[in-house]
Formats: sequence, C-alpha cells, structure tokens
Amino acid sequence: MNPQPTRAFPADFVWGAATAAYQIEGAAFEDGRGESVWDRFAATPGKVRSGDTGAVACDFYHRYAEDVGLMRELGLDAFRFSISWPRIFPTGAGPANQAGLDFYDRLVDELLAHDVQPFATLFHWDTPQALEDAGGWTVRATAERFVEYAAAVSARLGDRVGHWITHNEPEVVASLGYGSGIHAPGRTSEADTIAASHHLLLSHGWAVAVLRANAPAAQVGITLNLSQIDAASESPADQTAARDLDGRNNRWYLDPIFRGEYPEDVVASYGADSVPVLDGDLQTIAAPIDFLGVNNYFRHVVRASANGGGPRIVRNPDAEVTDMRWEIYPQGLYEVLLRVERDYAPVSVYITENGAAFGDVRIHDGSVHDPERQDFLRTHLDAVGRAIADGVPVNGYFVWSFLDNFEWAEGYSKRFGIVYVDYPTLERIPKDSFYWYRDFIATHRAVVAGAS
Ligand code: FCB
Repeated sequence: MNPQPTRAFPADFVWGAATAAYQIEGAAFEDGRGESVWDRFAATPGKVRSGDTGAVACDFYHRYAEDVGLMRELGLDAFRFSISWPRIFPTGAGPANQAGLDFYDRLVDELLAHDVQPFATLFHWDTPQALEDAGGWTVRATAERFVEYAAAVSARLGDRVGHWITHNEPEVVASLGYGSGIHAPGRTSEADTIAASHHLLLSHGWAVAVLRANAPAAQVGITLNLSQIDAASESPADQTAARDLDGRNNRWYLDPIFRGEYPEDVVASYGADSVPVLDGDLQTIAAPIDFLGVNNYFRHVVRASANGGGPRIVRNPDAEVTDMRWEIYPQGLYEVLLRVERDYAPVSVYITENGAAFGDVRIHDGSVHDPERQDFLRTHLDAVGRAIADGVPVNGYFVWSFLDNFEWAEGYSKRFGIVYVDYPTLERIPKDSFYWYRDFIATHRAVVAGAS
C-alpha cells in the first residue's frame, strides 16, 4: 500500500509512538523497584488472562537502547513512555530511589541523542501497592503522594523533558480499577469510582503547578480516553442513555479540566454528596494546560436498558472489529476532535494513543504482515487530517503501540505493536505497518520540504 499524501498535516507535526512502563519494562523487582497494584493484581489467580504478568514484559528496561535505535529507523519525532511510580517511590513515600530515577535519566538521554523528543507520562496506572493498601485513589493522601512523586521526577528530568502528561485515562483507572474491577486494584464500588476520579483529577491540578515550577519551559497536559457515543436509535430513551454515558465517560473529565465544574446531570445521578470535593479543588483541577492528550480506539453505540438501569453498550454485528472486539470507526475520531474543539477549545491537542490489536503472526520468512493495522492507521490518520482541515489544533499523533506488550487484563494475547515481540526470545521484528508508518512520515517530510 502506498503512503498517502500528507499535506493535511502541519510542517512541525509530531510523529510519535506510545508505550507505558508496566506494559513494556519488565525488571519488575530490579534496582529497588517496589510493588505496584498491577504486580499484585497480575499475581492474583483469575485476574489476567493466562496468568500473564509484567515481570519480564518486553524487557525494555534492559533493551531500551536497541529500541531507541528502531525508533530512529522509523523516523519518529517523539516517543511517549511512562514513568513507573514504584521505581521512584517503592513504598509510595519517603526518599526517592535514585536507581529508579537513573533509568529514566539514561532513557531520556538516549532519546535526545537520537533526536527523539521524550513525552513523559507520570501515571499510567501503576500505583505503588503500599498506597493502595492505605486507600489508593479513594483517599486524598494518594493525591498528595502523587505530587511528591511529580516533584521528584520533574526535578531530575525537567531540564530535558519538554512534554509532560500527568495522567493517562483517569476514567479507565476509576471505572475499571474501582468500579468493574477488571483492572487493578480490582475494586467494585461506585462510591470508590467517584472518589477515585476526583482524587485523580485533583492530583493532576496540583501536579501541573509542580511541573510548571520545575520545568518552566515545558508543555504540560493530561491524556483522556475520549470516544464518540452514539444512540442506537432516535428514541428519547436511547438518546438519554447516550447522553448519560457521554456524561460519565467524557464530560466528567473534560468539564472540570476546562470549565472548573462537574457536569450537573452526572452529579445529580451520582448524588450531590457523593463527590468528595473540598473548597478550591475545582479551581485547582482547572489549572490551564498547554495541551489535551486524546486517546481514541472505538466508538460506543448505546441503548437504554429495558429495566430502567444505566446505558447499555450494544454491538453492531456487521461492524468490523479488532482483536479486542472494538469497532473500527475512524469517523468517531474525527467527531471526537471536532466536539472537543467546539465545546472546550483546547490550545493544542495531541493524539496520544490510537491503534489496533490484530492476531499477528510471524511467518516462515520471518516477516509479519499486518494489512489490517496499516488500514486502521491510514483511515484514522485521514480522520485526523480532516479534523485539522476543519480547524482542530492537532499537533501530533502517537501510534499505540511501538511494541507488542502486556495488554492489562488481556495479558500478552493482544498485539498492538508496529513492532512484533517474540516473547520467548524477546526479539523485535518490525511489522509491515512499521515500514508503512516510516514511509508515511518520510512522505510528509518530503512534502513539507518541497513546499518550503
Ligand atoms: C489504553 C491504554 C493503553 C493500552 C491501550 C490499548 O486504554 O491507555 O495502555 O492498553 O488502551
């Protein structure tokens, strides 16, 4: 498949790929790293498919230099990674673990030496287990510990990391970690979900101030998982169901960050007393940010439950889906971007994750053909280009993921990478989509150079 013309993207558009610490690093107990909620959860029988854990993962902790070499070959402008909180604060408090900071120091230097900009996420779900034992995100103290962590990391790396993301997808942490229990720490309580969401947001606001102090020249933002939510029919009940789910998943996070308020309809449905907000919290959460990170994978189609319960997500049997059974719907990304621009007008947007899992195999000649992923990337990049043409200030795009990795509750069964990882040997094999993305980026650069 030929790369598409890429005039739709601005000259300085940032081409990236994304990962997260627990999903790739391995070295789970090396150099003083403490236990995280994901270590504990994965070690609990029945929680993660096939009993997989992140103990070894892609062994990025030891192989990062080889991987940065591949990034260079790909022509990436930027690499999004996350920092493992329990590497820095093994028990959540006390002195910072220098050996943990040293690792990210080396990684950042390696990236910069290869002209790849580091985009660092502070929290991609690996809370120190000791903090979870003391209440986790349901208590305010965890937000306070998070700010100490943000301070220690930015004091060390703030001179070199130009883009900081406080949190990755707080909605998923709150809903799947504390509501459905599908993710660590595996709690199942609506009260905990609401409290966790508030403390995650509060800690974001506090961390923004700390990052500004320690890295005055850096750009600071947060990444939200935003999905288009369509009603299954025109019926008022289904329309209300769609609005309700949009409220819980999208507006609950966007409104406080951009407007300093929680959406009234959602507060009413939770019960006014259920959100543990103290004076000043909403002002803190609404601290101006330099960019919004958008993660997008699918859209939801919802119906009202017959019994008057909450919105019910329905599947269209004709829809094309990925290996996660997520609907492939690039128009949803366009709609999300237009909506964010219309309702919240962020200064700048980065697509911090977009990609797809397919059942990739390495064939006899050693290659990995993944035409579905190339198609997925091409059609979603087309959607991003159209959103830019229609006025959304999108400044970069990060494929999820650079490497196949530990896909949370699905373990290693779902491959999202543009680089295949042979887990028994840890060998890296660039998939066809890697070469497609490389050519796409190169074509964009050639178009820009030709136009100037
Ligand atoms: C997102 C997560 C990321 C990855 C993708 C598939 O929700 O941020 O870590 O698991 O989904």
